[in-house]
Amino acid sequence: MSRHQEVRRTTVTRLQKLKAEGEKIACLTAYDASFARALDAAGVDVILVGDSLGMVVQGHDTTVPVTVEDVLYHTRCVARGCERALLMADMPFMSYPTPERALDNAARFLQEGGAQMVKLEGGAAQEATVRLLALNGIPVCAHLGLKPQSIHKLGAYRVQGREAAAADAMVRDALALAEAGADLLLLECVPSALADRIRDAVTIPVIGIGAGAGCDGQILVLHDVLGLTGAGDMPRFAKDFLAGNDGIEAAVRDYVEQVKAGRFPAAEHAF
Ligand code: KIV
Repeated sequence: MSRHQEVRRTTVTRLQKLKAEGEKIACLTAYDASFARALDAAGVDVILVGDSLGMVVQGHDTTVPVTVEDVLYHTRCVARGCERALLMADMPFMSYPTPERALDNAARFLQEGGAQMVKLEGGAAQEATVRLLALNGIPVCAHLGLKPQSIHKLGAYRVQGREAAAADAMVRDALALAEAGADLLLLECVPSALADRIRDAVTIPVIGIGAGAGCDGQILVLHDVLGLTGAGDMPRFAKDFLAGNDGIEAAVRDYVEQVKAGRFPAAEHAF
């Protein structure tokens, strides 16, 4: 097989096209090669090696203890099973305190991990970092709304941007990050109306988790989708797709189909 006949991988341009054509983007997290292979086969567009691995793989209470080496290890594992989906690596807590440190670490996720995009949490304060990564050819997803790496400042995982001033600030942050060169926005736990405002304000795709059905795409943590999260810990915005499906691959295919058809998330999953 020649280089040009290889399996076509989802690219940033393809994600832009999906937004332009109104086709929803289906994203999920994964942390190892076996699940990456299953997600890839089921048609997931973007696989995120999330720092949620600190909780669902390592058993911590928060994502704060996760290190660059941890994310690198899991990104390498996922890269071996992921041929079609765009592979995004999460920049963990304190791996981007300055634009220069961010550049060094992001480069490692692409060169050593095999990722095609990095994700970082933050608003306009990350503008210089996003600009530097973009200038160096590193695709970036900017994560707004609930930022789990700031849990010790926030005090609790709660919906962000309910007040008018906070909502306006989030729209400004989204615009600033898109202008700086971000390729994707991820909105976690924000009211649907605010997510729709941001979707309309920027030309880049907006992926939601607890941000309503209007987003250009959806993402969930794999362990929630596969019913591994205890009922008491299941976030309101998530859904167990294994329930009612015959196995993991069927569950993931159902998730992809429901996202693409606009059937997930339903009103009960939104704020
Ligand atoms: O780390 C993660 O899994 C994430 C998702 C919540 C999107 O950032």
